[in-house]
Amino acid sequence: MKASYLYTFPLVLLSTACFGQRTAIAAAVNPYEYTIQKKITGSTGAVVSAHPLASEIGIVVMKQGGNAIDAAIATQLALAVVYPAAGNIGGGGFTVIRLANGSNVTIDYREKAPAKANRDMYLDKQGNAQTELSQNGHLSSGVPGTIAGLFDCMKYASLPFKKLIQPAIDLAEKGFVITEAEARSLNSHQAIFTKYNTVTPVFVKQTNWKAGDTLVQRDLANTLKRIRDKGKAGFYEGETARLIVEEMKRANGIISYDDLKKYEAKEREPVVFDYKTYKIITMPLPSSGGVLLPQMMHMIEDKPVKEYGFLSAQAVQLMTEIERRAYADRAKFLGDVDFYKVPVKKLTSKAYAAERMKDYNPQMAGTSQAIQAGTIPESEETTHFSVCDKNGNAVSVTTTLNGGYGSSTVVGGAGFFLNNEMDDFSIKPGVPNMYGAVGADANAIAPGKRMLSSMTPTIVLKNNKPYVVVGTPGGTTITTSVFQTLVDILEFEMSAEDAVNKPKFHHQWLPDQIDVEAAVPQAVRQQLQQMGYKVIQRGNIGRTEVIKMENGQIEAVADGRGDDSAAGY
Ligand code: DON
Repeated sequence: MKASYLYTFPLVLLSTACFGQRTAIAAAVNPYEYTIQKKITGSTGAVVSAHPLASEIGIVVMKQGGNAIDAAIATQLALAVVYPAAGNIGGGGFTVIRLANGSNVTIDYREKAPAKANRDMYLDKQGNAQTELSQNGHLSSGVPGTIAGLFDCMKYASLPFKKLIQPAIDLAEKGFVITEAEARSLNSHQAIFTKYNTVTPVFVKQTNWKAGDTLVQRDLANTLKRIRDKGKAGFYEGETARLIVEEMKRANGIISYDDLKKYEAKEREPVVFDYKTYKIITMPLPSSGGVLLPQMMHMIEDKPVKEYGFLSAQAVQLMTEIERRAYADRAKFLGDVDFYKVPVKKLTSKAYAAERMKDYNPQMAGTSQAIQAGTIPESEETTHFSVCDKNGNAVSVTTTLNGGYGSSTVVGGAGFFLNNEMDDFSIKPGVPNMYGAVGADANAIAPGKRMLSSMTPTIVLKNNKPYVVVGTPGGTTITTSVFQTLVDILEFEMSAEDAVNKPKFHHQWLPDQIDVEAAVPQAVRQQLQQMGYKVIQRGNIGRTEVIKMENGQIEAVADGRGDDSAAGY
């Protein structure tokens, strides 16, 4: 256990600015002086998210009588302000809820392709894929889903929405101080922000951003106020919708007023499956995790992975071969079930898992069909947060703009980034997206269709009570990171802290290679190479946020790979 994950990191983030009139919730959180906490223990409630202010706001909501769902809503709205790279109102995501009454809920607020989208919209006249257009600027955006999703979550909340959104409004209006990592991230995006915006956003600055600078977002505050006052219509209709459509028209965008007005989040049937004595609840399609996670867990269930040992070459090889098989199916079969018939039952059955593993050879590397390989970027710009309360409610939320700051386009006058989620469709069969994932018909673009996602917010039950709440960003590595974290906790009996921070690895069928973090030992890499694997070192894999609950004790751990922070009591 690394000592550095155990104590509070004080950030030198002081400001003399006054926060002015504030709500009780915002008043309890100081946006000018805060600390990153990598781990908390408690017995009442916890929130782990990518930003200390967002986690703290969730906890204050709970202390004021809110449940885990209230806390999740307030945390998500706060992230849209304090974590603009991925926290969002211009993107989408998935929420998995375990309610204290024993029921499970999954809410899909994934973006949709606009009505004017078509299958070949990113191909040039010669039929070549134009990833520049699917990954950047106005044309890369799907119709945002986050605000619709939050209003669907309100069904399970106990406090009024006005109270839950106010801390985010205050943070946007009065500002908060940014961390070192945020300053670095904003500085590295200045050129791209300038290129893809028609109205200069607040994120563009003449001199370099530095830790301790205050970021004020007045346009965003006004947008949030419209949502506070008019509800869902404050985003999907009226002034905000008008500003989005105007922004589209100033460049090559195609999202229309009608697309916005018609957008609806969907409550979907949760994926629930058994793993030994545990029950695992996760998100169904369009999350590929809803198919891949049960597949991978079924494939490992009867294997002696515990005997092999954590991060042994044998365990990594077994998990790699499992991941290879699951991701091969992802590329061929998975897409939006509202548009494409996916054989979910078969793909997630134990019999199919056994069949798939028949040709697994524990001594030798398998191979993937050699087609165009993509590179996997190292930025982790989706965001996950985990929440639990003392009554037995647990919430697992993964939300994204796709790439860091999404399309890089901020809606002029409305102050928020739009996603570049259209790139998660298969823009041409076999052409890798920005995470190297390939796809085909099942995930082809069609108007109103949701693009396939890797986001896998998950809750594990033990004795029918929430035991682990887990999820992570990381593009295609998301599902393998959740898989690995579950194997670490359920098989290797690791603490939450180790499961979060120990090195991770990833295989996604194509490219045919094992990606490993720097901390994966050389000896393990060499053994894998001897078996025939190509092993590639990459940057961080994911930023996993885990809450583990047992015997009334809560252990909440924020990933050491970023500014992620836990709060609780
Ligand atoms: O939904 C997906 O699978 C992707 N848009 C997630 C992107 C992501 O995790 C970015 N972080 N690296």
